[in-house]
Amino acid sequence: MSNYATNEGTARYRERSKDTVPHDHFRESQGLWMSSIGFGSYLGNYDEATDIRYRDAVVRAVELGCNKIDTAINYRFQRSERSIGKALDILFKDGKASRDEIIIASKGGYIPFDGAPPRDMRTYFIDTFVKPGIATPDDMVSGSHCMTPRYIENQLECSLKNMGLECIDIYYLHNPEEQLQEVTREEFHKRIKDAFETLESKVSQGKIRTYGTATWNGYRQEPTALGYLSLEELLGIAKEVAGEENHFKVIQLPFNLAMPEALVLKNQGVDGQMTSVLEASWKMGITVIASSSLLQSQLSKNLPEFIGECLTGLETDAQRAIQFVRSTPGISSALVGMSNINHVEENMKVAKIPPTSIDNFVKLFAGEEE
Ligand SMILES: NC(=O)c1ccc[n+]([C@@H]2O[C@H](COP(=O)([O-])OP(=O)(O)OC[C@H]3O[C@@H](n4cnc5c(N)ncnc54)[C@H](OP(=O)(O)O)[C@@H]3O)[C@@H](O)[C@H]2O)c1
Repeated sequence: MSNYATNEGTARYRERSKDTVPHDHFRESQGLWMSSIGFGSYLGNYDEATDIRYRDAVVRAVELGCNKIDTAINYRFQRSERSIGKALDILFKDGKASRDEIIIASKGGYIPFDGAPPRDMRTYFIDTFVKPGIATPDDMVSGSHCMTPRYIENQLECSLKNMGLECIDIYYLHNPEEQLQEVTREEFHKRIKDAFETLESKVSQGKIRTYGTATWNGYRQEPTALGYLSLEELLGIAKEVAGEENHFKVIQLPFNLAMPEALVLKNQGVDGQMTSVLEASWKMGITVIASSSLLQSQLSKNLPEFIGECLTGLETDAQRAIQFVRSTPGISSALVGMSNINHVEENMKVAKIPPTSIDNFVKLFAGEEE
């Protein structure tokens, strides 16, 4: 049994889940069958009750046909990764899933606390990062972000340990655009190159399978914006580092009914033409994962009625908002943060119906009729 998600494993999971969710709920991407709804683990308190809720929510999500799990080392001060690790342990021991069936993503870049905010931030930073030679204050941007090789290597090791894994399927640089607030674009490219070299070496060592960038503003801005990210440039750096066989394969950005930029903003150059992130990614063979599908729950209520007329067959606004994201051409998986098991059950019902038709999708963009 391999220690990462495989084509065979994810296809087996898809087949095994067919009485719960139809085959078209899974999309083949980077050789893996990925559920169109993914599990997010960002929000929530840093306490034991939330840890247990997340653990149980992950188990339930996997039972209901979700094989894409997203986290980051800093989420809930490492507690989300640890809860996911506990859930995976239960799923594997109970024979409800195997490692090769589940696609696990994590991120590094932000300074994570260890379970709770430290009493003294400076002492924590010095003891945890400076004394062991992992990072210096000069490596930091905005006092909280770092992507030097030594730091990323350390953070990846911590994530593996937190989740009890030997290999992570997708490892993202977390909001790398943060660096552009303080460093020049030239320096930024140098830092990206160093980070990609490290990540390529981690692929060779079998610690990760692919890597990418998980972002907030970077891909949703005009090219003139300070924190703008160009996919073509990033892929170019990956090619400089590892040629055509590079492993820069996945990006993540917010996409939802209120944040449609990935689809509508033509801010990415491909061979001299400007196009959207979704189209550019498709042309470059890069998988796109949507985050914040519910705009941090704000889209789970009071949606205009006409949205329900376009996204039919659903009972709640949360389901409609998720259906919009998973139906968007070019989105492989719509991440939804869900620590509440009732939310998992409500949201996974969407997977039972096909993505909305292109006609209805277009109607949605035409807006409400007078
Ligand atoms: N830059 C980045 O890399 C980045 C940024 C943002 C997000 N992400 C990833 O994307 C994931 C999703 O984004 P997100 O968690 O920020 O926001 P989200 O998925 O838009 O919303 C999550 C919130 O919605 C609530 N919710 C879930 N289902 C619901 C339902 N059916 N009805 C009402 N409320 C519901 C959740 O509550 P409960 O917890 O109580 O279930 C949680 O508070 C994250 O968890 C993270 O993995 C990445």
